[in-house]
Amino acid sequence: MRKRFYLTTAIDYVNGEPHLGHAYEKIVADVIARARRSLGEEVFFLTGLDEHGQKVQQAALDNGKKPQAYCDELAAVWKAFAKKLNLSNDDFVRTSEPRHQTVVQAILSKLNAAGHFYKAQYRGFYSPKEETFLTEKDRRPDGSFDSSYGQVVELVEDNYYFHLREHQQWLIEHIESHPKIDPQGREFIEPIYRRNEVLAFLKNKALEDLCISRPLARLNWGVPLPFDEQFVTYVWFDALVNYISVPAAQGDPAVLAALKSESRKPKADIELWPADVHVIGKDILKFHAVYWPITLRAIGLPLPKQILVHGWWQKDGQKMSKSTGNVVDPLAVIDEWGVDAFRYYAVRELDIGPDGNWTDAGFAARYKAELADGIGNLLNRSLKMLQSYRAGVVPPRHDELAPQADQVVNDTIAHLRGNQLQAALQRIGTLVTRGNQYVEQSVPFKLAKDPSKAARLDQVLYNLTETCRILAVLLWPFIPTAAEKIYAQLGLDVSPDKMSEAVWGRLNVGHTIGEPAPLFPRKDQPSK
Ligand code: ME8
Ligand code: MG
Repeated sequence: MRKRFYLTTAIDYVNGEPHLGHAYEKIVADVIARARRSLGEEVFFLTGLDEHGQKVQQAALDNGKKPQAYCDELAAVWKAFAKKLNLSNDDFVRTSEPRHQTVVQAILSKLNAAGHFYKAQYRGFYSPKEETFLTEKDRRPDGSFDSSYGQVVELVEDNYYFHLREHQQWLIEHIESHPKIDPQGREFIEPIYRRNEVLAFLKNKALEDLCISRPLARLNWGVPLPFDEQFVTYVWFDALVNYISVPAAQGDPAVLAALKSESRKPKADIELWPADVHVIGKDILKFHAVYWPITLRAIGLPLPKQILVHGWWQKDGQKMSKSTGNVVDPLAVIDEWGVDAFRYYAVRELDIGPDGNWTDAGFAARYKAELADGIGNLLNRSLKMLQSYRAGVVPPRHDELAPQADQVVNDTIAHLRGNQLQAALQRIGTLVTRGNQYVEQSVPFKLAKDPSKAARLDQVLYNLTETCRILAVLLWPFIPTAAEKIYAQLGLDVSPDKMSEAVWGRLNVGHTIGEPAPLFPRKDQPSK
């Protein structure tokens, strides 16, 4: 039995429009998934949709549709979006699926039987928009609430609550002690400032119990509480469970044992839980770093190894907002520039952690400098020279650029293992730059004119061609289609999807390359 590297993304609200923020998160996760596979690990990559709750129920109503039909239509849009981003996900979860709902119910039954819940009356403020209860502390000095809560209403209602206070201390200890128990020294919550944020929150005040139900009278689009038919499950409790409902559906023995499931058969060859990485945005940190670990502990399952928290994108220094038209439409960018350019820019521009800012000019500038004039130019000039001077046939091996290539490979692998994707791309970029410099310095077009320099020209051509091949392997997790095109142009009929191929000298003398073609066409020149 082999434990897979199991990674997840947040599951997006089905009623939202797929935007840059969603795209970024999924691309980050996909690069991590592909990098791990390339490094030889077995990976299970999960993404999907959050379909229940008041917002979706309301949106369906506004569209004159039944919630399930409404979700089915939108789910098709989101699945197409995932394809367009070239995600390599192994499964796609929808929280309205029976395979998910049965697990939510099994967990609720188990926790209820073990006394984790109690019923109580709530009297106070509620934001339907954010589906959250508000307290006096959320009010501003003038008594109003932040506009992000929408219209706030006053409520009196019964609900079920999850005891959290008894969990506070062990959670603090887990977060504080975690680097000592992870052999790679990785934090449970990364980056460190997000970890500190959670610790400050946990140490500052007693945790309030979590309301895990919503009365049917107010909301019916949800998972029915198995122990009280007057209620459905709070959408966040439902949504977080996706991270284990899919392993259960896949037959993960640990999850099925914790659920004491009799209906599903464990499979010996698929061990998923605990998750290796949950990739999420900064706004949903508390749900993942506080409520989710506590839920897992109550169920009797180990905690995820890491919660990896990314920042938020703005456009032109402003919050993205549909109402003002200040948005980046990933599909439009992909249609104009190609999916690889989009994937490259997202990961190269914004490290996992801080907030980022999209500008169209910044995108175009990176495209030109790093893709068209960078890797694209290196590949095109190298292969064209090999074609015109040596009929496309690879000359004997020569190792002038090998030491530098080896260093870049080693550093890139270390960055990928640490999920430092931006740093990996920066390091790979140094090899591109070196390759282009090497052309300037060794002036192969001059060597070609002097028959006495034929041996030197052979050396230069080998170094350039082999550098391009290594770059394809390094770049594959980030820009898989472009990397595959590089291999095809090199005349290699496999995929550059194994890091073990990033070893200097694998390109053999006598091998004939394929047809050179621009990888990232320049956009600033009028097309003919
Ligand atoms: O929160 N920049 O769904 P969601 C970067 N259904 N990331 C952004 C972003 C931006 N401008 N806007 C949103 C939910 N995101 C829940 C998750 S998980 C069990 C349930 C990110 O559609 C956001 O941080 O509102 C989150 O990680 C993801 O997009 C989905 O957001
Ligand atoms: Mg959101």
